[in-house]
Amino acid sequence: MRTQVGIVGAGPAGLFLAHLLRRAGIDCFILEARSREYIEKRVRAGVLEQATVDLMHEVGAGERLKREGMPDPRIDIRFAGGHIVVDLNELTPGKIVTVYGQQEVVKDLIAAWLARGGTIEFEAEALGLDGLNSERPTILYRQNGREDTIECDFIAGCDGFHGVSRPAIPDSALTHYDRIFPFGWLGIVAEARPLAEMTYANHTRGFALASRRGPNIARNYVQCAADENLDLWSDTRIWDELHVRLKDDGKTELGEGRILQKAVTPVRAYVTAPMQHGRLYLAGDAAHIVPPTGAKGLNLAAADVWVLARAFAEFFRTRSRERLDRYSEVCLKRVWKAVRYSCYLTSLLHRFEQHTPFERQLQLTELEYLLRSKAARTTIAENYIGLPFEDN
Ligand code: FAD
Ligand code: PHB
Repeated sequence: MRTQVGIVGAGPAGLFLAHLLRRAGIDCFILEARSREYIEKRVRAGVLEQATVDLMHEVGAGERLKREGMPDPRIDIRFAGGHIVVDLNELTPGKIVTVYGQQEVVKDLIAAWLARGGTIEFEAEALGLDGLNSERPTILYRQNGREDTIECDFIAGCDGFHGVSRPAIPDSALTHYDRIFPFGWLGIVAEARPLAEMTYANHTRGFALASRRGPNIARNYVQCAADENLDLWSDTRIWDELHVRLKDDGKTELGEGRILQKAVTPVRAYVTAPMQHGRLYLAGDAAHIVPPTGAKGLNLAAADVWVLARAFAEFFRTRSRERLDRYSEVCLKRVWKAVRYSCYLTSLLHRFEQHTPFERQLQLTELEYLLRSKAARTTIAENYIGLPFEDN
């Protein structure tokens, strides 16, 4: 079998890329290790920048998002000194974010792809990549117990942090940048009334976040140990911590309800450079992960493949590799800005066991400054709504 672009992974990166390539008349083949049902149910991110929303519309998958996406015009940050309101509409005129679950994005992209006659090989696991420095790189994969090979002009490694694409590049060709934070996030999805606003909290007991997935579906998080034992977190303990950390002392704001899902997410920043090797191009989590505090992971994946699709389009139109050669350099500029911002918010909002009293005072002073300074809040707003997608 042969294709122009072999895509490994049908997460947001792989699916957006497939749509963009089809629009440019480029043939592709998508391999996904998991079942369709599994990836459509996997609960992850939920905040879409305007550019990601625009991309959903551009690829013709934005109908349901328009109806069900929840525009978010502001975020709140609560701390000992008060409530900081970051009014996105006011600080970045006309720009907001939209809350819409990642699994809904994935569902809509798959449905639109299949409706246009595209195919995805589900439960087809890439086992290895070969010939990356040749004209015809190949993907070896297994499906229904049988192994097969697909020959490509190029391979797009969109297979997430634990995929096979990044390890297919000789380690000597890569630089890894890594920061593992000494805590995790315990996230829940619950049938409960969410807080009215997206609310982040810095509390002496640790960070908390109240988000949502619908008018009666809450998506909440509390800072926990990196290797937290979920058995130690009864539903009652989770709700109690949320009320305390979010300063909902009278338990009047945050509704409680049945917890549908509970999981621990690591808090880590990782970047590999370059994001390409021979005819393999990495995109999304395969190349970088950011702490979830900035809500940037899914949006970065969309920005990467937007750049990559344009570079492939130029190659197949003109045979020029100029844009492809600059792919990594172009993406990394934006990636590092998202890493910077996500690490800043993470440092600002979490409890660090190793903090000295001096460092704790600096954290509180930064929050106090944000409370009073429109310029400081504008910096948060500008990054939260997302820096522009740029291809040079
Ligand atoms: P993925 O979504 O990981 O997609 C990769 C795909 O490749 C998967 O479908 C996988 O099954 C497939 N795959 C892997 N290996 C192979 C193989 N060998 N062969 C074929 N297919 C393969 N971001 C936020 O902004 N906010 C959050 O709250 C948040 N929560 C998260 C919680 C968790 C548990 C995780 C893991 C991530 C979270 N993120 C969050 C990050 C965000 O979800 C990711 O940045 C986003 O999913 C990146 O998309 P992607 O397409 O690059 O990778
Ligand atoms: C979410 O809704 O899951 C969410 C919101 C904001 C974040 C991270 C996750 O920073």
